Amino acid sequence: MELMADNSIAILTAAPEQTRNRDIHYPYRQDSDLFYLTGFPEPEAVLVLVPGREHGECLIFCRDRNIEREIWDGYRAGPEGACEKYGADDAFPIDDIDEILPGLLEGRDRVYYAMGKNLTFDRHLMDWVNTIRGRARAGATPPGEFVDLDHLLHELRLFKSAAELKIMREAGKISTRAHCRAMQICKPGMYEYQLQAEIEHEFAMAGARFPAYGSIVGSGENGCILHYVENSAKLKDGDLVLIDAGCELQHYAADITRTFPINGKYSAEQKAIYDVVLEAQLAGIKACTKGNHWDEPHQVTVEVITEGLRELDLLDGELNELIETKAYMHFYMHRAGHWLGMDVHDVGDYKIDDEWRLLEKSMVMTVEPGIYISPDNKDVHKRWRGIGIRIEDDVLVTAKGPEVLTSDAPKETADIEALMSGK
Ligand code: GLY
Ligand code: MN
Ligand code: MN
Repeated sequence: MELMADNSIAILTAAPEQTRNRDIHYPYRQDSDLFYLTGFPEPEAVLVLVPGREHGECLIFCRDRNIEREIWDGYRAGPEGACEKYGADDAFPIDDIDEILPGLLEGRDRVYYAMGKNLTFDRHLMDWVNTIRGRARAGATPPGEFVDLDHLLHELRLFKSAAELKIMREAGKISTRAHCRAMQICKPGMYEYQLQAEIEHEFAMAGARFPAYGSIVGSGENGCILHYVENSAKLKDGDLVLIDAGCELQHYAADITRTFPINGKYSAEQKAIYDVVLEAQLAGIKACTKGNHWDEPHQVTVEVITEGLRELDLLDGELNELIETKAYMHFYMHRAGHWLGMDVHDVGDYKIDDEWRLLEKSMVMTVEPGIYISPDNKDVHKRWRGIGIRIEDDVLVTAKGPEVLTSDAPKETADIEALMSGK
């Protein structure tokens, strides 16, 4: 509220429930912005911030208590609980919002609101503004300015507090345990979905009830599909398996990728490619230091990967020219990472005034270079084809340098082979 302009109001809505099929909903996940500010977990809720308002600055509209509905659908906080448990100054039943919100909007100079994300609510908001306009001759003044709330709020979310980091470190630990479990259990003949089940079992047993995104378990050439989620193939002796999976703990995400040999031993070609990706990843992590700009970790991964591919004769030409012409993009077609937080691809600007922003303490990002050699790539010898490798960790920028939140999952080939052989 301190960042908001004088005489302004901010409005945020809860995530809508989503139908899975017929009368069944997907598991409910609160909108990250609303949860960040309130911790309020229910659908059909609206948060209104009115800095300086004498009768309360932080208002929550939510579902009323309803003993009969609660027997079917579970507990509701109700307006009373919204004040007592979630810290609202005042709270009202959501059914009364049409009567109350126009009065709160009236006479405010500026409305902070994330337009276009909840079309039903956008329409309500315009209806309320029109209600005020309709009363103009009676002296009512509608708000003059609508400003995107995301800009203010997402800048706050980009910098993680000590309390948030505590959760993110724990999410990192649970997720590393899950990757270790998959490495230890993996053997030829299993199915990708069985490794997914092992991973998600470890998440759930630690209280992280949902993955932060659809777990990716891609064996063999499926590892070359960046967002492979079918997870249905049989694991073949001699292939690699790429697992990109992280838990969501108390609304905070972890995001880890490891790529390991299904039979426990990397082949010469697999190890050659793997070591290039690992070198790039370690260099990328080292570049996650305060004062470097956002693109620096990406650039160093591009350099190491391009040079590595050149040395393996998978790319032919001068290093600088291969980088300039983006020749590496046949093998490494995504960026080195993204912000990480409540959303796996978290909020926060990457550029300020059209320049890459500088990394600062308390930002969390992923570093996840990869090399993917398409099974259809006729420009390379067939012994390389179908190898897909990514290595991903979560990195906190600190005053003392990068802190890897997911360092417990082994990533040197020898360490992975030792863990898989039970040593
Ligand atoms: N799993 C999504 C990502 O790594 O960005
Ligand atoms: Mn990932
Ligand atoms: Mn990622």
